[in-house]
Amino acid sequence: MPNNQKQYLWWQDGIIYQIYPRSFQDTNGDGIGDLRGIINRLDHLKWLGIKAVWISPIYPSPMADFGYDISDYTGIWPVFGNMADFDELLQEVHKAGMKLILDLVPNHSSDEHPWFLESRSSRDNPKRDWYIWKDAKPDGSPPNNWLSVFGGSAWEWDEKTKQYYYHAFLVKQPDLNWRNPEVEKAMHDIMRFWLDKGVDGFRVDAMWHMVKDAQWRDNPRNPEYKDYMATYEQLLPVYSTDQPEMHDIVARMRQVLDQYDERLMIAEIYLPVHKLVAYYGTHQKEAHLPFNFMLISLPWDSRLIAAGIDEYEGALPTGDWPNWVIGNHDQPRITSRVGQGQAGIAAMLLLTLRGTPTIYYGDEIGMRDVPIPPEEVRDPQGFNMPGKNLSRDPERTPMQWDDSTNAGFTKGEPWLRIDRSYVRRNVQAQRGDNHSPLVLFKKLITLRQQEQSLCTGAYRPVYSDHQMIAYIRQAEGQPAFLIVLNLTHRPCYFTPPIHFTGVIVIDTLPEQEQVSVKDKIELFGDEGMVVKLDHWESVSPTSK
Ligand code: NOJ
Repeated sequence: MPNNQKQYLWWQDGIIYQIYPRSFQDTNGDGIGDLRGIINRLDHLKWLGIKAVWISPIYPSPMADFGYDISDYTGIWPVFGNMADFDELLQEVHKAGMKLILDLVPNHSSDEHPWFLESRSSRDNPKRDWYIWKDAKPDGSPPNNWLSVFGGSAWEWDEKTKQYYYHAFLVKQPDLNWRNPEVEKAMHDIMRFWLDKGVDGFRVDAMWHMVKDAQWRDNPRNPEYKDYMATYEQLLPVYSTDQPEMHDIVARMRQVLDQYDERLMIAEIYLPVHKLVAYYGTHQKEAHLPFNFMLISLPWDSRLIAAGIDEYEGALPTGDWPNWVIGNHDQPRITSRVGQGQAGIAAMLLLTLRGTPTIYYGDEIGMRDVPIPPEEVRDPQGFNMPGKNLSRDPERTPMQWDDSTNAGFTKGEPWLRIDRSYVRRNVQAQRGDNHSPLVLFKKLITLRQQEQSLCTGAYRPVYSDHQMIAYIRQAEGQPAFLIVLNLTHRPCYFTPPIHFTGVIVIDTLPEQEQVSVKDKIELFGDEGMVVKLDHWESVSPTSK
């Protein structure tokens, strides 16, 4: 990079990769992935060009919600390994020039955490107020109408102490009381424990749930609710989430991180853009990257997505850094949501928009949601709301490494069934196939790393209609790139408001690569391309 160019931080010009440890690589034959497995597979991430690895929770847990119910915030779940394995993982990640991000779950613990065991032991236990306890209404019903994300009431009656406790998620995941300063201090200490070890940051779970309305008012009905939705969506969570007090709490978490060099706070927040960007804080004092789930939540429609990108770019506070996500362990996989052809377009969007991309393990080889028969469902969201197809198991199936038994994931019985198509859809097979999703990801990542324009350059919308989206990325003094994406399966015709000449450098249809283009482009269905521009100018000279 020339010296006069602005320097970016690792989490701005690097790519994040999410590992679901249960499903990445098993090394001891118990059918469940482990930390040693991650160590053994770091070469794949290095080869792909990943900068930071985020691993979903690895702490001791009864596994009611697969690790998001923590019973010890500073330990390692024995099935995943031990602290020595973790230290080795951290060391190996760093040796490979990468960063390690842990999942921090501050909203709730497991009901088996010693804090909660104490809290529920009696009304006058010193830890009683570490969780949210309330009296029943006079008729014995819960204190308000709030619902659990995983179905049913969010209040659980405790027969022994005759009060309800609040759980935004499972009964086995009681919410901590963030209005109690002791809770906040304990969580800061946990952060420091991992930061002192050298962990590079946290993805903070369920951040917008952490503080609740001080008056405990009923949530209003959601007029848009439909039967197929999760029962939680019957109400609008206006009093149970996204409370104004949250911002000071995030700022104080940020202060903990800021006592260390270049550590990162990502925040899991599902909110509309204008509320989401508030979590950057004023003057960059809160989360570095509030996760932007727009490409997951919006319908796959070129007009809505083009408008969404502009809305996000327009709403970002000055000096804050954007980010993009197309998949995670809670959402249907992109390949299953938009289809195989369009998954390539999604990858191109993810890796050519301005901002830090997060890749969910397996999306780079086009892994699909795997149908899991009812008797094999493991996810509580699935079995608590049967018949709604809400289980998250389909997107959590084991990584497909090669065509050997169990896709090279385990020598034992995999904890969740593996997509039978692994015999051809696997890392090993795709590495040598120029038409594979993996090679497309690799090409996009490589080009992004080589070209400042694609990595950190400005974003300029060029054109969108009912089929396509086109935009330019350019860093100061660097070549410009035109990205043209067909979000439909039918051909489309790009007659842009610019004159240009250039060469297609990456195309979802590789036979188009190295073709020269001028002023107009025709695209096949499901085609997307990155064009390196030799020259471009607006048709209307005033708009450039
Ligand atoms: C969000 C996590 O991503 C999800 O997997 C989990 O079930 C809930 N938070 C509760 O921790």
